[in-house]
Amino acid sequence: MNVGLIGTGVVGSGAVWIYQKNRAHWEAQSAETARLKAVCDLDFSRCPYDLTEFQRTHDWRSLLTDPEIEVVVELIGGEEPARTMIAESLQAGKHVVTANKMVLAKHGKALLDLAAENKVSLLFEAAVAGAIPVIAPMCSSLRPNQIQSVFGIVNGTTNFILTRMHQSDADFQDVLAEAQRLGYAEADPSSDIEGRDSLYKICLLAATAFHTQVSVEDVLVEGISAITAADIQWANKRGQVIKLVAMARWNDARMELRVHPVILEGSHPLAAVNDVYNAVFVRGDCCGDLLFCGRGAGGTPTASAVWADILALANRAAYRVAPLVPAGLFPKEEMVSSFRIRLRVTEQISLVAEACRVFAEHQVGILEVVRAGSGEDGELVIATTPTQEGIKSRLLEALALQPWVKEIAGVLRFGL
Ligand code: HSE
Repeated sequence: MNVGLIGTGVVGSGAVWIYQKNRAHWEAQSAETARLKAVCDLDFSRCPYDLTEFQRTHDWRSLLTDPEIEVVVELIGGEEPARTMIAESLQAGKHVVTANKMVLAKHGKALLDLAAENKVSLLFEAAVAGAIPVIAPMCSSLRPNQIQSVFGIVNGTTNFILTRMHQSDADFQDVLAEAQRLGYAEADPSSDIEGRDSLYKICLLAATAFHTQVSVEDVLVEGISAITAADIQWANKRGQVIKLVAMARWNDARMELRVHPVILEGSHPLAAVNDVYNAVFVRGDCCGDLLFCGRGAGGTPTASAVWADILALANRAAYRVAPLVPAGLFPKEEMVSSFRIRLRVTEQISLVAEACRVFAEHQVGILEVVRAGSGEDGELVIATTPTQEGIKSRLLEALALQPWVKEIAGVLRFGL
């Protein structure tokens, strides 16, 4: 099976490296194997490996008119022209393998329908959680189940940044620069940091677990840019860890999708998932709880998932994504979490009583109140019982107006 690769950046170069290292090994294992015939990029200088054995082209459409090429691999990322490349490849009767979570989260249903019309496969194991096999199991091994929830850490860059912040007093920007140097962060790191990368991935997990297509615009998404050293120090002191978590589950016949940081007890299994590692929990009605864990970013691990899809095609063993049905989203305002609210406060004897009054007025239960520091550094840290997002927002507005509140210094959800 001949393959044409578009994009020789971090993941594309990883795909070339894996091919050159392991193709003899694959050939020894199976009669049906894949041959990387052509590579396409505007600039090949980013690839550190020798490309002379391949046809090289700047024109991606030349892969579509080559009758020998059966699989087009799209690894350029971003929305356009990647979406057009995928669509035209499918229309040309080519199977497509991609790591492009943004295109699939936004246009997945249309592209999967196009693949079905043209009797070809659109595979995207590499788009979610790097090297970890999670899309193929969801579509095949777990098929007997009704999936109840999927959640976990699906962004390597932010997990790397949060891990480093917990381990040291390193500044956010320095840690981000290190992540970029290691090839974990996207060209535009805001997608990682603001949670959109995790949003796209949880939409793909929801699509494969629940066969739903949702509008990515309406999901509750908060990234890690507002997390301060003080939040990290507070968690460290209590043996807790802050993680960026993405979650999908049914709630009242609608999809509850959310991406946000959460404070976890140190004993929670996700608390031990560090650096660029990702972990995805799946709960099914028959299989029970499963945990998939491994390297969630980086050129070679992600390219491993790319080749998993290509070799599955070569062996006529590719998974099939069930048709997607549009689903309603559970309203953000009604989602429930427990919050830890950190307030910078004035010196005042009746502070705790005042805080209790405002919380009671908003019908928000208090689990714990801690008064810390003094003078300029005086803080009141209040943990709530489970509270709806809408009520929490109104509570924060009311707190901001209190004369004894200098600043709402941090608001984080806790527990899963
Ligand atoms: N920037 C992404 C991450 C790459 O850090 O998870 C893998 O999708």
